[in-house]
Amino acid sequence: MLDKRKGSRLPGFYNLSLEARWKALEDWLTAADLEAFRESAGLSLEGADHMIENVVGLHALPLGLALNFVVNGRDVLVPMAIEEPSVVAGASFMARLARAGGGFTAQATPPEMIGQMQVLDLADLPAARSALLAQKEILLGEAAGIDPLLQRLGGGPRDLEVRLIETSPIGPFLVLHLIYDVRDAMGANAVNTAVERLAPRVEAITGGRVHLRILSNLADRRLVSARCTIPLSELAFGGYSPEEVRDGIIAAWAFAAVDPYRAATHNKGIMNGVDAVVIATGNDWRAIEAGAHAFAARDGRYTSLSTWSRDADGNLTGALEMPMAVGIVGGATRVHPSAQVALRLMGVRTASELAEIIVSVGLAQNLAALRALATEGIQRGHMGLHARQVAIAAGAQGEQIERLAEQLVREQLVRIDRAEEILRSWQTGSEG
Ligand code: MEV
Repeated sequence: MLDKRKGSRLPGFYNLSLEARWKALEDWLTAADLEAFRESAGLSLEGADHMIENVVGLHALPLGLALNFVVNGRDVLVPMAIEEPSVVAGASFMARLARAGGGFTAQATPPEMIGQMQVLDLADLPAARSALLAQKEILLGEAAGIDPLLQRLGGGPRDLEVRLIETSPIGPFLVLHLIYDVRDAMGANAVNTAVERLAPRVEAITGGRVHLRILSNLADRRLVSARCTIPLSELAFGGYSPEEVRDGIIAAWAFAAVDPYRAATHNKGIMNGVDAVVIATGNDWRAIEAGAHAFAARDGRYTSLSTWSRDADGNLTGALEMPMAVGIVGGATRVHPSAQVALRLMGVRTASELAEIIVSVGLAQNLAALRALATEGIQRGHMGLHARQVAIAAGAQGEQIERLAEQLVREQLVRIDRAEEILRSWQTGSEG
């Protein structure tokens, strides 16, 4: 029996049957909660039919739990929805190494989103800009009245910025940014409503025409940074010395820091962890992806979102900073049953707390990839899990899956044609 007092350390979880894993989670979740983790993630066809248009079915993904995470001193079990093997195992293993150094420390800025208004047809752009800035308090006051509930919760408009775009394919124009604190929401609805409602006033002040009114996914005022220290002694494995692993990881990061071709893949590894938690909690992963990659190119050159270095004691330290516009209220987080349970499992009370966990998982995932790449290569660890998928695709069932996967790895031939051949031979009793 697993013990809740051990927090997110659940040794042996990997080897339990599905039933036993659910049983182990009874310490965290109610029986009704656990129902949402069974078939169809608790989402009925009827429920789905209310979520989007032209529904004809459900699309399921595996939901795994990343173990060993300590974020800001708190143990947390992290739900991850992802189709790719090795990701959950990689995050859990790296969280264990980070745990030996005190876990992850993460910090979120206030949940401020940016709403954009594109102002066209202006005769005198600097004059229009000055007029808007002169009326800033009035505009902010008007914006504050748009969402009384958000205002009561401590959110609402924070600032106005006016940008002058001097050259564009249609000539110069103004862009107004409404900085809007959305508290525990992702914020798209709140921000889009606010900019749409404010537009007529902006037109009256400038004499121009407000064209686009929409949230920016480059949420660079809603940033989260996470860091961790891996004690040098935790880094040795196989025939690799801890210094070799540490310096190998730093050299791998340096590659991503200077080369966009490598940075794209490096950041994809980070997003393996980030997106999986974002999806599990019913959040908008396209928004997170867009924000992450735009932020990675903020200095005009696409680069790594993370940094890795050694501290004064020779330990490995990592840091990751990125926008994280996620919510715990509204949208699919409210209507998707297993997303609700995922949030309860993590025990997050604010969107910022969720964001801090997500960025910590991104950092762990990055470490998992770099550690493998800097040593034995990515394929070795991948193969076992990949082989299981190949075995299933070839038609293996039940106990055949593990047995077939093991044989494929042993033969170093993880291919569907070989898997089918072996299965056929088992059926005719001629091999295996
Ligand atoms: C694969 O999904 C992710 C990696 O390519 C990330 C990386 O190269 O850093 C392994």
